[in-house]
Amino acid sequence: MKVSSKGSDVKDVNLAAQGQDLIDWAAREMPVLGLIRQRFTKDQPLKGLRLAACLHVTSETANLMLTLKAGGADLALCASNPLSTNDAVASALASHHAVKTYAIRGEDNDTYYEPMDDGADLVSVLHKSRREQLPQVIGGTEETTTGVIRLRAMAEHGVLAYPIVAVNEADTKHMFDNRYGTGQSTIDGIIRSTNVLLAGKTFVIAGYGWVGRGLASRAKGHGADVVITEVDAVKALEAAMDGFRVLKMDDAARVGDIFVTVTGDVNVLDRKHFEVMKDGAILANSGHFNSEINLKALDELATGVRNARPLVQEYRLADGRRLFLLGEGRLINLAGAEGHPAAVMDMSFANQALCAEYIAKNAGQLERKVYDVPADIDSEVARLKLHAMGIAIDTLTEEQRRYLSSWEEGT
Ligand SMILES: NC(=O)c1ccc[n+]([C@@H]2O[C@H](COP(=O)([O-])OP(=O)(O)OC[C@H]3O[C@@H](n4cnc5c(N)ncnc54)[C@H](O)[C@@H]3O)[C@@H](O)[C@H]2O)c1
Repeated sequence: MKVSSKGSDVKDVNLAAQGQDLIDWAAREMPVLGLIRQRFTKDQPLKGLRLAACLHVTSETANLMLTLKAGGADLALCASNPLSTNDAVASALASHHAVKTYAIRGEDNDTYYEPMDDGADLVSVLHKSRREQLPQVIGGTEETTTGVIRLRAMAEHGVLAYPIVAVNEADTKHMFDNRYGTGQSTIDGIIRSTNVLLAGKTFVIAGYGWVGRGLASRAKGHGADVVITEVDAVKALEAAMDGFRVLKMDDAARVGDIFVTVTGDVNVLDRKHFEVMKDGAILANSGHFNSEINLKALDELATGVRNARPLVQEYRLADGRRLFLLGEGRLINLAGAEGHPAAVMDMSFANQALCAEYIAKNAGQLERKVYDVPADIDSEVARLKLHAMGIAIDTLTEEQRRYLSSWEEGT
């Protein structure tokens, strides 16, 4: 049942109580955001501002929304992926917290695109078809690797109409969220959707960036034989020295039992790879879009497609081999599991909240370009997280500070 509640589009408002429990559960693991929320309630740094967010609608995102709302913002949230929405959370946001929420899990294309008009993300919608609204925008933040790449390209071409802070570039974001969050939750999504044993399997990972590194070490921990494919010589070398086999995808395709793409690139698994894969190979994507696996080619090669179990589509090929696609090629850590654990989203979203405050404070003074997260915000998030974890660290003595900043002493 699709319900419009106070301007929102959510599946079922009766799920709100269940959603609130999930939001509260995540909050237990999000102490940094909790501290920011307390301060925002007092300081009201976002008062009078309208804030639109396009994010996976999960219990962690709900905690970010509540923090921004506590800061005084008037909020609207839409889903950034039709399979990642938690309907109960969406209902709680819409009906308990008056956050305008447009998110229904598994929604068809029309419903998914309806709140955003043309299906691109918020930034591209604004730049393409809502240009009249651009002068009202003070600035934006970007959460993902792929998004930052696109926004930098827009800035380079002089078409970015307002400043953006690249939250993804904060150390307290990508070192933890991409590596530990996606690493663990991707494994979780694969196991939940297939119940496959990883020990002894050949586990092929395309891309050895932050996500790939996290995923590789976790797959290894499960006893898998991990193979890495890369296009970047330094990353490939790092993978080899971290103890992984590095192969071209053309060769890896022949030996892999499980394939996961985490590159942000297109057609990383392509027709020629499907043609040589083993019977029973499992294909998953945890990169940004469902374009990392060439689904059109897979469809064309298949003589039949059926659901083998929820979230697992069996593609039968002409020679009888079967390939199993997880979560329709969308992000498996969200489609098959619950996305990143709250403890890592705590840091990513603390950056989001503090960067929203930074943009509000510096309204009109920032240029139309992509900014890194200010270093003091990054270290503040790390400091608060350590504090919340009960971990104390050393500080430099005066002698050490002098020594480290001097070029005359030492050697
Ligand atoms: N599933 C999630 O929740 C989640 C979370 C964070 C990031 N991501 C996405 O995961 C992707 C990777 O993120 P990251 O932070 O690791 O980025 P990254 O830039 O650190 O790593 C990407 C790596 O892929 C490699 N690569 C590019 N094309 C390739 C190809 N054709 N074959 C093999 N390797 C290739 C690059 O050389 C690079 O090393 C991005 O699309 C990002 O948006 C997803």
